Amino acid sequence: MSFQAPKGTFDWLPPRSEQVLAIREALAAPARLAGYGYVETPVFEDTQLFARGVGESTDIVSKEMYTFPDKAGRSLTLRPEGTAPVVRAVLQHGLHNGRLPVKVWYSGSQFRYERSQKGRYRHFWQVGAEALGAEDPALDAELIVLGARGYSSLGLTGVRLLVNSLGDKTCRPAYRAALQAFLRGLDLDEDTRSRVEINPLRVLDDKRPEVRAQLTGAPLVADHLCPACKAYHEEVRSLLGAAGVAFDDDPRLVRGLDYYTRTTFEFVHDGLGSQSAVGGGGRYDGLSEMLGGPPLPSVGWALGVDRTYLAMEAEGLLTDTEQEHVQVYGVPLGDDARRRMFLLVDELRRAGVSADMAFGGKGLKGSMKGADRSGARFALILGERDLAAQAVQLKDLTTAEQTEVPLAQVADILKGKVQ
Ligand code: HAM
Repeated sequence: MSFQAPKGTFDWLPPRSEQVLAIREALAAPARLAGYGYVETPVFEDTQLFARGVGESTDIVSKEMYTFPDKAGRSLTLRPEGTAPVVRAVLQHGLHNGRLPVKVWYSGSQFRYERSQKGRYRHFWQVGAEALGAEDPALDAELIVLGARGYSSLGLTGVRLLVNSLGDKTCRPAYRAALQAFLRGLDLDEDTRSRVEINPLRVLDDKRPEVRAQLTGAPLVADHLCPACKAYHEEVRSLLGAAGVAFDDDPRLVRGLDYYTRTTFEFVHDGLGSQSAVGGGGRYDGLSEMLGGPPLPSVGWALGVDRTYLAMEAEGLLTDTEQEHVQVYGVPLGDDARRRMFLLVDELRRAGVSADMAFGGKGLKGSMKGADRSGARFALILGERDLAAQAVQLKDLTTAEQTEVPLAQVADILKGKVQ
């Protein structure tokens, strides 16, 4: 019997997996330059953290969580997102009692039991950044700029930024009521009608054409913002403009998580089909209190690594997949030579030269094939006679030129050649 990876999951394998590592690094790099510190939280948390933090009425909590009891009967959930866990960790360790804002970044697996399709997986990877404990439009703008810089550092040109404000506890209730009044007058199925009562903003995000057609005249939050929210949003927009980060206002941008207030934004890529959001985030001024903490106005984002990979693929930015793995490949001929080669590759690696060797007792032909496949620039061929002469044959695989070099000098010589 053979096993398959569970539905909605897949394996990243070499050489494509190298690109994924590079993407994670590139997306995190701007935040690290801006003083964000690395946090790692557990992959599973108390189920209530997400129920309260992300919101009972969201798809994520009501349909998509991987929830299970542990052996002591506690209800645990594989994290579907990273923001509620970060707030939990900050509160638990009292980081908010120090210098504010607390700025952190993370990188890790997330789990959502979604209907799987291209770009939508049950196990996926996010790089996230959060700044907790400051209400300052410059902080919202900083995060958005950092996200945009991450994408552009990868060479992506097709990422568009959409921004919106969802208002706050002063102006949102009146907007919500106005939206509900409008939605109640539409011809909607039962599920959607109950969504109107629980989470009307989500209805604005409905992708079905028959629903979309009816939403044309829906009240927009932008027309209901209180003066403070309006001024805040204007300042975020103005800072983005000043930083040269292009954006589109999207008054219908609502997000799939309940904790947002004021600024919300999404990075979208048009080459991805229906799962176009490569990243998203916003301000969540009330989340700390929802989790039992003090007021801690905060803002953050999470960028989807898997979708960023797809966006790079769509833009033809992925370099040739057969990339170089090692610089040098050892070809030992005979048992004594194998023992000596084992030590030689170790010496090379310690000198910072990436090196591999033929394993499994292959002959010259099989080993040279391995050398070709490894992508190495140089092969080191060591036979019994070379060993007796304390030398090794250094073959440049691009020119087929071969020279004999003393074993004692090979690391130094190669160090000079591969750097
Ligand atoms: P989110 O919009 O749910 O936000 O996810 C952020 C990004 O993760 C999405 O834009 C997408 O690229 C990726 N993503 C989400 N679901 C999937 C999936 N099923 N398959 C592949 N990629 C996916 C959050 O998670 C918030 N915690 C962001 C945030 C941080 N807000 C404030 N701080």
